[in-house]
Amino acid sequence: MSGKIERQISPANDIFQKNELAAEFLQISAIAQILWDRGWAERNAGNFSINVTGLFTTKELDCLSFYPFFPLVKQYPDLARTLFLLSGTGTRMRDMANNPVENVCFVYVNESGSAYHLIDENPGDTSARPTSELPTHLAIQQQLLQKKSPDKVVLHAHVTELIALTQLAQFTSEKAVNSLLWGMHPETILFLPDGVGFIPYTIPGTESIAMATLKGFENHKVVLWEKHGCMTVARTLSEAFDNLDILAKSSKIYFLCKSTGQEPEGLNNLQLKEIREYPPGETPVFKKPDFSI
Ligand code: 13P
Ligand code: ZN
Repeated sequence: MSGKIERQISPANDIFQKNELAAEFLQISAIAQILWDRGWAERNAGNFSINVTGLFTTKELDCLSFYPFFPLVKQYPDLARTLFLLSGTGTRMRDMANNPVENVCFVYVNESGSAYHLIDENPGDTSARPTSELPTHLAIQQQLLQKKSPDKVVLHAHVTELIALTQLAQFTSEKAVNSLLWGMHPETILFLPDGVGFIPYTIPGTESIAMATLKGFENHKVVLWEKHGCMTVARTLSEAFDNLDILAKSSKIYFLCKSTGQEPEGLNNLQLKEIREYPPGETPVFKKPDFSI
């Protein structure tokens, strides 16, 4: 290897040291801790990807193509020359909270979108490899770029309250599960007016779950994986957590009501319609006070 390349990939030059990433690592740490505390991340459960391309100059990104590369099963042409921060496979959210740098990895997609360079802080050691749900993360990240979406984050978690819901046969359809989730709390339709997508049980980490999930994200911000968990897209990791938190709340209200032996009433169609039809920017929670009187 030439001296020049060695300098480019030397630890001193490493992207892990980049100042702009400090805020990302802080947020990762905070959200990983919450996921663990909620019980939504048993063992190595859950993973995320963040498109961090915008934090780097073209020159800096060019240096990353000197790192070892791994072919992808599928080609992602729209992801060419994009850089992702991904949780490492097998890593625990409770460890992520204490030391995000040790538990994430950087993946830089090559010029044709057919392979990725693994940007390793210490090449050759046993540091993190990308999550086993990489095919789903890349497929969704590509879809977000195609849609010119401001969303940069994809988060997967084992949200207990939502998994429990998908164990009940009457909620294993998009229509039924959305009607229940919207009916349990007004915030749900307010913040997730497109509801959730529903994917029948599929083996994790496969191309088939990636393809099914991609379809779900055509019209939704959250997709439920039957008997497994859910995935969401958002501008930040914190917002991604919010999406799951709102849905978990609705689901919890349902189970709490059921635990009394009674059936919850739910919001009726008129109440839901009122929330939907409130003019944008004038939603009940954000309505500006009227000081004219
Ligand atoms: P990873 O540790 O490979 O991210 O897997 C966790 C998970 O939740 C798979 O669905
Ligand atoms: Zn999972």
